Amino acid sequence: MTAPRTTEQGRRAAAPWQNPEFAGAWAAGDPLGDLLALPRRLAAALVALDRPRSRLIVDIGSGPGAFLAVFLEEFAEARGVWSDASEAMLSRARESLAPYGDRVDYRIVDMTDLSGGAIPENADVIVTSRAAHHLDRAGLAAFYTEAAGHLAPGGWLVDLDHTGPSDVWDQRFRTVRKRFTRPRRKGAEHRHDHPLTSVQDHLDGFAAAGITDVEIAWKAFFTCLFIGRKDG
Ligand SMILES: C[S@@+](CC[C@H](N)C(=O)[O-])C[C@H]1O[C@@H](n2cnc3c(N)ncnc32)[C@H](O)[C@@H]1O
Repeated sequence: MTAPRTTEQGRRAAAPWQNPEFAGAWAAGDPLGDLLALPRRLAAALVALDRPRSRLIVDIGSGPGAFLAVFLEEFAEARGVWSDASEAMLSRARESLAPYGDRVDYRIVDMTDLSGGAIPENADVIVTSRAAHHLDRAGLAAFYTEAAGHLAPGGWLVDLDHTGPSDVWDQRFRTVRKRFTRPRRKGAEHRHDHPLTSVQDHLDGFAAAGITDVEIAWKAFFTCLFIGRKDG
């Protein structure tokens, strides 16, 4: 038997999401749901400006598929690949992405092993949101490098994800965030095995992946929209 290429970090991050009750409680009460509408649309608009004929969009750790849906709306001719490690999320995504019919392929994929055709090569855009923050610094850099390797020249890598600021800013954000977001639902709390990676860790990860044309296009509290274009 060949050993799995997924990492322990990836398997631990994925574990709670395999539980349909947990996945359901999280999806029903996403505390940031409304707040993320703007950065999702902004990401799609920025990519459209540069690559209006994008045909292949891949979402990694896609969950119910809201980020992928925004890109499928922006790029009416594009095909989407939904991917996630959770079968429970797969059922939810099949429902929420049903309006896009056969434009969407569904794949069970661990973000720590994108090899062997798990996701297609030559994607125009790879998006991911609120999944890679479960990885430590080295895991994050490896993830960005593997993802960038699946992009076409000139393709875009987008991560809308949580970051860890300094202690003093952590406290400030935690205190004021309650005024802008919904309380987390009971049963939807989940563990983080590592301290959150910093903004700089993400930028270093993009650089390690060879993507230097990168910007933080939006930020609120802990969550940043990292978006970068591969050379070519
Ligand atoms: C907080 S949800 C975010 C869902 C969606 N991207 C969004 O922002 O609305 C985290 C998602 O990451 C997925 N996930 C966790 N560990 C994973 C792994 N190792 N590989 C792929 N997906 C993973 C979960 O199943 C879940 O759908």
